[in-house]
Amino acid sequence: MTYIDTHSHLYDEQFDDDRDDVLQRAFDAGASKIFLPNINAATIEPMLLLAQANPGRLYPMIGLHPEDLGDTWREVLPMMEALLTEADHPYIAIGEVGLDYYWDRSLYQEQQEAFGIQVGWAIKYGLPLMIHTRNAHREMVQVLTDVLNRNIDISTSRHPEISESRNPEIPKSTGVFHCFGGTAEEAEELLSFDGFMLGIGGVVTFKKSPLPNVLREVVPLERIVLETDAPYLAPVPHRGKRNETAFMTEVIAKLAEIYSRDAEEVALITTENALKTFPKAK
Ligand code: NI
Repeated sequence: MTYIDTHSHLYDEQFDDDRDDVLQRAFDAGASKIFLPNINAATIEPMLLLAQANPGRLYPMIGLHPEDLGDTWREVLPMMEALLTEADHPYIAIGEVGLDYYWDRSLYQEQQEAFGIQVGWAIKYGLPLMIHTRNAHREMVQVLTDVLNRNIDISTSRHPEISESRNPEIPKSTGVFHCFGGTAEEAEELLSFDGFMLGIGGVVTFKKSPLPNVLREVVPLERIVLETDAPYLAPVPHRGKRNETAFMTEVIAKLAEIYSRDAEEVALITTENALKTFPKAK
């Protein structure tokens, strides 16, 4: 069995003492690839060094996390976008980006502005999005829809025949709604964005989680990618400890139970989903 962890912060300092061991355990458990979402300006270098040391296995993303805007985000974003203009840059996605109003709503508008700018990069540079959303479902859907619609207007005004010959469609954009934990209605709304997957990790194993029922009711396995969000959100029986990619086997076992499929099938289908969504990681 091989699987892909689409969301790990393995460059985090919590792994400084034993990062090589953690990686070896991941590969031994069946991880074929691990994707690394960026957090802020300071995490770019350790993330890149780690990816460069593991070519064909670890892949970096670029983006500014919604909880890390601070007071420098207007300078940080152009610096990050400049990285995307370099030929042969290594980034496979824009992430992680999004909205988080759980701890702090003081940058309510600024978070939406920064997220909208970074959704624009995904369209401009043809990369998938890794979207983080907490206590902000409505606003996230609104910003994403607004930016995608704005880009339809641009493309149809350049090509007026498109708007006449067929219904305007949302332009091709792909990605992951990371750490999905919402209701069935929210899942359906997110799945209406074609080309987007729901990222599922340790939370699905938590005893009181409503997520298994939501998945069974409205989410086909073909719309799921696996993720740890390491070092956070370790699955049962490691709950509360530092998470790592090797623990994904617990998530796979739980999904196999939810969908009445073999663990091998869950690993295979979610691997195909991940490679379809992140074509630069093939
Ligand atoms: Ni994350």
